Amino acid sequence: MSLLKTVTIIGSLTFILVGPIQANTINKKHGVNEAKKITKTFVKNLKSELKKAMVSGGPLKALEVCNTKAMPITAQVAKDYNVNLSRVSLKNRNPNNAPNTWQKAILKDFDIRAAKGESVKKMAYSEIVKLNNKKQFRFMKAMPTGAGCLVCHGKNIAPAVKEKLASLYPNDKATGYEKGQVRGAIVIIKDLD
Ligand code: HEC
Repeated sequence: MSLLKTVTIIGSLTFILVGPIQANTINKKHGVNEAKKITKTFVKNLKSELKKAMVSGGPLKALEVCNTKAMPITAQVAKDYNVNLSRVSLKNRNPNNAPNTWQKAILKDFDIRAAKGESVKKMAYSEIVKLNNKKQFRFMKAMPTGAGCLVCHGKNIAPAVKEKLASLYPNDKATGYEKGQVRGAIVIIKDLD
């Protein structure tokens, strides 16, 4: 049984015993711990592929790996943990990574929080919403732009990389970033009942 499912059951019991607020608190707390674990695994898997390609074939090879492996890696981690998992950005490269309305609002808020000086590394958001009488757990974790990200997301992208990006992503919006900015976010969604 997945942790989130266990948490749902514990949450439901708490709901009966002590009422809805505590139930949500318990669900959310455990949900967030689980979600953090998932994002850690996801980022580790993505970065290890990226690093391997960068070392073996430089940025062009790494770009190819991002292009062909980012989505399958996302799908695999989602399947392993039985959650809905994605990456989104206000300036997305892949058209599939465009945020929906609530995700856009959170990403904008992340930018505001970063501008106020909050550490992007630890920045996250979580809530439990009720949709048609069903509870849904939502989690977003900000992805900071590190120095290594600038090769493909920065202001001075090498001409060969630029060219390849333009051919793979004609509507690419994901350039012009500076180190420390919010590049995007990992989104985890889980229906709780
Ligand atoms: C070698 C080039 C390269 C490097 C380095 C790179 N990226 Fe990307 N990034 C890409 C490509 C290509 C995509 C589109 C992948 C796809 O098609 O799913 C992408 C997509 C993303 C997305 C999904 C949203 C979107 O714009 O489509 C995020 C978030 C992201 N990158 C963050 C980062 C971060 C953070 C780093 C540094 C730790 C980084 N990237 C380093 C090439 C790169």
